[in-house]
Amino acid sequence: MKLVTTHGAGEFADVAAAYVARAVAENPRLSLTVPTGSTPVGLYERLRAARRAREFSLDDATVFMLDEYCDLPSYPSQSFVSFLRDNLGDVIFNPSTTRHLLDPWREPADYDGALDVAGGLDLAIVGVGRNGHVGFNEPGADPSARTHVVTLASDTLEANFADTALSSRPSRAITIGLADLRRARSILMLIAGQNKHEVADLVAGGLYDENVPATHLLDHDDLTVVMADDLLGR
Ligand code: GLP
Repeated sequence: MKLVTTHGAGEFADVAAAYVARAVAENPRLSLTVPTGSTPVGLYERLRAARRAREFSLDDATVFMLDEYCDLPSYPSQSFVSFLRDNLGDVIFNPSTTRHLLDPWREPADYDGALDVAGGLDLAIVGVGRNGHVGFNEPGADPSARTHVVTLASDTLEANFADTALSSRPSRAITIGLADLRRARSILMLIAGQNKHEVADLVAGGLYDENVPATHLLDHDDLTVVMADDLLGR
């Protein structure tokens, strides 16, 4: 594992954007995941600016959404596809990029088929939840699972829907499984955000815990972790 510790949201986003720009420069036709959440917002701002400056594009790439809610009463509002439209815009929503969106009605096996046609993932970009989830592979996730529907953990719902009435929250989500993330040729794991110091310390220490999905990726031989040390709510 290569661990990069950053200070401040700006440096965190700069380091992540430089990694992605380098990966795309080396292989413009790469297949990659795009995560959601507050963690990659600065990265996506930089990718949008770089595209506007004609310094970066995913036009030849194949993009896979990492996860999506299944039974979100407000869909598409609050959905991850709306998040990606708002935050990545024409970096991926353009006529050239090959996009695989996870919608609530999609069969998990179809998504695995698309992953197989792409030859698997070249780059898995993942964020990490407070409970250590990656995508929506929640604690206890099967490391050999491919795309599947999960029941969301209560702490995940509290973290993601704190301001939403219980009756308006989803209960399930669809996610790429740990098997495809572990098989990716390289992994970029981004860790930032309140109440994440415990999972960050496990990852930084290289400590495997079967109940912390992020640690299932620690034995990957091309794993880069970018950790916003002062933004973990210590
Ligand atoms: C969400 C998503 C993950 C994301 C994580 C972190 O629930 N399922 O893909 O990486 O939680 O979110 P945030 O960056 O907002 O802390």
